[in-house]
Amino acid sequence: MSKEIKEIAAGLKAFLQNAQEEDLILKAALAQDKAAFTSDVKNSGITENHSPLKMQNRDIHPLPKENSPLDGKTSDSKTKEIAYIAQMINGCQKCELGKTRIKAVPGEGNVNAKIMFVGEGPGYEEDRQGRPFVGRAGQLLDKIIAAMGFTREEVFIANIVKCHPMVDPSNPDKRSNDRAPYPDEIAVCRRYLEQQIKTISPDYVVALGGVAAKTLISQNQTFGAVRGKIFDLNLTCVELDKPVKILATFHPAALLRNPGWKKEAWENLKVLLADMGKMPKAK
Ligand code: URA
Repeated sequence: MSKEIKEIAAGLKAFLQNAQEEDLILKAALAQDKAAFTSDVKNSGITENHSPLKMQNRDIHPLPKENSPLDGKTSDSKTKEIAYIAQMINGCQKCELGKTRIKAVPGEGNVNAKIMFVGEGPGYEEDRQGRPFVGRAGQLLDKIIAAMGFTREEVFIANIVKCHPMVDPSNPDKRSNDRAPYPDEIAVCRRYLEQQIKTISPDYVVALGGVAAKTLISQNQTFGAVRGKIFDLNLTCVELDKPVKILATFHPAALLRNPGWKKEAWENLKVLLADMGKMPKAK
């Protein structure tokens, strides 16, 4: 067995080995989460028909493609560019999320990453630390990254929106107060992510969950229809300097709630690993 396959196998084992134990803990957590989620949704007035992904665009104007001051730079300046984007994000007040956040979460990782992972938006823990995926979902993401044969330091991790979307923004200390970002919040924030993708210029983006998949792959197709397939990434605000591929899989938080989906998530990621030449392609 080659060293690379051994590493992937070890990572995969770590990713899957606690599944049973997690199942028990998570069943209990899920019951609590479900109750909290149901009451949050009820209190927020958000109904299924009015859910963020189904809402008609409110106040969304297509953003023109602009020449950014960062366009056309070499990889030597990537670190500076990423720091500059982070500075803009940290000072951003373009939407309501900027007013209620504790810390903005620009994203972090290797500026020469071959893979970028993109989640939905910061949660409670991320809001406090200013770092992406540092809570329970983040611990699972770390295992997924290891299972794929990478370390967290080798990849770049970011989110669709950079500030914590809360059901009740007047109560940032409340747990289970997360919600999906609204379309207008995504519309004003996406330029930051797009510029990060352009700067890092990865070969692949992994969209974690439905919000990232809808935003970066297709508004018109269901998550189920795009999950596990490779697409060419088309951005709306900036021009990429080279083709980038994108694949969507389940969000780690969804895997925590539904550990039985982990196997499918792994099947999705194997498609990407095969495309990268890290794993034999399925026949
Ligand atoms: N969920 C996300 O989508 N992003 C994070 O950074 C943390 C949890």
